[in-house]
Amino acid sequence: MRTSQLKNRVKVTDFQSEVLNQKRLDYFQNYFKNYYYGEFRFGQGTENILMILDELGLGGDWLDLGAGPSTLLWSIPLNDVKSITCNDISVEALKVLNDFVQSDEVPPCYQEALRLCNKTDQHVLEMKKKVQNYLIFDAMSDWPAILDNCKYDLITEFGTFGLAQTPEKFINCFGFLKKYLKPGGRVIGANWTRSAHLIDKEGLDNSYLNLKLIDYVAHRYSYEVLHLEKVNITNDLYYDSVIVFALSH
Ligand SMILES: C[S@@+](CC[C@H](N)C(=O)[O-])C[C@H]1O[C@@H](n2cnc3c(N)ncnc32)[C@H](O)[C@@H]1O
Repeated sequence: MRTSQLKNRVKVTDFQSEVLNQKRLDYFQNYFKNYYYGEFRFGQGTENILMILDELGLGGDWLDLGAGPSTLLWSIPLNDVKSITCNDISVEALKVLNDFVQSDEVPPCYQEALRLCNKTDQHVLEMKKKVQNYLIFDAMSDWPAILDNCKYDLITEFGTFGLAQTPEKFINCFGFLKKYLKPGGRVIGANWTRSAHLIDKEGLDNSYLNLKLIDYVAHRYSYEVLHLEKVNITNDLYYDSVIVFALSH
């Protein structure tokens, strides 16, 4: 693919013809194996997010923003999903996700999540078949024209908007996405607050994340707050808490 074509393409139809950055590919392969692969780690907010998706997640057309390799984990509580669209700013993240989608593997962490939701491996295998689109774009600024006529029942973001450099940029994300939600559609997400140690190490300070900020977002863009919670994380070097929310259009 030529550089000019690469610059403008959003939809990935064939990962074989993508030019991949090996370092980023390694990063996402390690992410896939280190985060939600082996033993399910309780106390990191994962079980809280799964329960909120179980209670408030909608079926229908689902868009997962900043999917990384993890969309299928968050699919576990959902029912009646018609189509799944996965977005990330990095093609390498989606390549690792697609490799997983193409396999019939159901990792141990997924099996525990399935057990929590009273489901079997079959659910994940079925969800893999629903992944229809891979879209590369920056979900934290104006969305590309290819999405102009798309509307979703459910839009999720797990650990993505919390990477915004400032509270203003975080707030704006919810404005960009609103017109892509069907009436009655929902946005469900979770963002991890970084520990002083991680901020020191990597520099992105997202200590602006708190419950009031989500309340402000809801007020600013006229969402109804269906759920809002801060889950404290203890004994973790990198994260202090996770803010979990569900908003309705
Ligand atoms: C912390 S990871 C979370 C991945 C996944 N959602 C999960 O639950 O494990 C953040 C992801 O957001 C992606 N990302 C970062 N900035 C983005 C942006 N502006 N638009 C879309 N994706 C973005 C990263 O490439 C990465 O895959």
